[in-house]
Amino acid sequence: MTDHSSPACASAPRTRGPAPPRVRYRPRAMHNDSFLRACRGERPERTPIWLMRQAGRYLPEYRAVRAKVSFEELCRSPDLCAEVTLQPIDRLGVDAAILFSDILVVFDALGVDVRFEPSPVVATPVRTQADVDRLQWIDPREACHYVYAAVRACKAALADRVPLIGFCGAPFTTLSYLVEGKTSREFEHVKSLMFCEPGLFGHLMERLTDLLIDYLRGQVEAGVDALQVFDSWAGALAPDDYREHVYPHTARLCAAVREFGVPLINFTRGNANLLAFAGETAADVVGVDWSIELDRAIDVVGPERVVQGNLDPFALLGPPALVERKARAVVAAGRRAKAHIFNLGHGISRHTDPAIARLLVDTVHDA
Ligand code: CP3
Repeated sequence: MTDHSSPACASAPRTRGPAPPRVRYRPRAMHNDSFLRACRGERPERTPIWLMRQAGRYLPEYRAVRAKVSFEELCRSPDLCAEVTLQPIDRLGVDAAILFSDILVVFDALGVDVRFEPSPVVATPVRTQADVDRLQWIDPREACHYVYAAVRACKAALADRVPLIGFCGAPFTTLSYLVEGKTSREFEHVKSLMFCEPGLFGHLMERLTDLLIDYLRGQVEAGVDALQVFDSWAGALAPDDYREHVYPHTARLCAAVREFGVPLINFTRGNANLLAFAGETAADVVGVDWSIELDRAIDVVGPERVVQGNLDPFALLGPPALVERKARAVVAAGRRAKAHIFNLGHGISRHTDPAIARLLVDTVHDA
């Protein structure tokens, strides 16, 4: 087992009010459990693979569903979520399913409206104390009931063929969308808040962390077999600011969520200098983006860690021979880690040919 005894990792998760209900997770036999075994540090015969954003616009069957409903409606329709969650399982032969949803639907628990155009737009960004005071903090089990219904629908449809991954945004990435109101290039509002009003920034991070812990607890109770935390925007920060203002919250979330009994993947994107922190949390698996060679990433986090990653998603726009060569190189590099789950270093591009995605899965399985 990994040693999680460093002070940041050992800190007990903080709880508010009465003790939360116990999570009723019981591992069940999976037909294909290679992903879960790798999460636990084992080396299954074939390197397991799934792809971030594997259910999405590069698949014609996904576009056919989206021709009928908006993205917002799709996220709120459990049966349709199950349908698109399963699309890449059948077509690609991946070793895990990821719940079809979005990291921003949790804003329903804050009473904050977000539209997808298709990039997210928050009608009323949260930037001042008065804005924070207006947030509603509704129990995610009520506000996001459709997410948990989607988990149950996915589990029923999957019938334990492959495990189901649930997810949330990390506290900083979630806060970034709340404060910026959209995908940002410079993060000027978030950084102003962090540098000018560190108390308010910290308070909001703290409360979002509590919310996200609750949100993930509900997903485990509804049946997910593993969880991934997406810190897609952590790379916007300088390492010292990340250490001071963000890492403690992410570490607390990981420590609390790991108690739920399902494997946890912590994916931090955009700055390989933050990998050392990612390797320090209590998460079972360290997600690696494509900005660093996988063997160097393993040197940073240590060979006793399980890693996930890290082919550049845009490599899939290249010719088949290049995809095969690069995929085999990533598998070879991953052999230095305790265990390796193959993934892209970020979400699959909408311009990807599904046949090339299938070639990638087959190459990784054969390597
Ligand atoms: O991985 C999967 O297949 C599961 C589904 C999933 C989606 N979003 C579906 C989606 C997951 C895990 C996410 C996570 C997510 N959402 C992240 C973290 C991962 C990352 O990419 O860094 C972020 C930052 C978001 C916020 C978000 N939602 C953005 C930036 C966008 C626009 C993306 C784009 O390509 O235009 C969305 C919308 C969204 N979420 C789409 C999908 C399939 C496209 C919407 C459509 O169908 O038109």
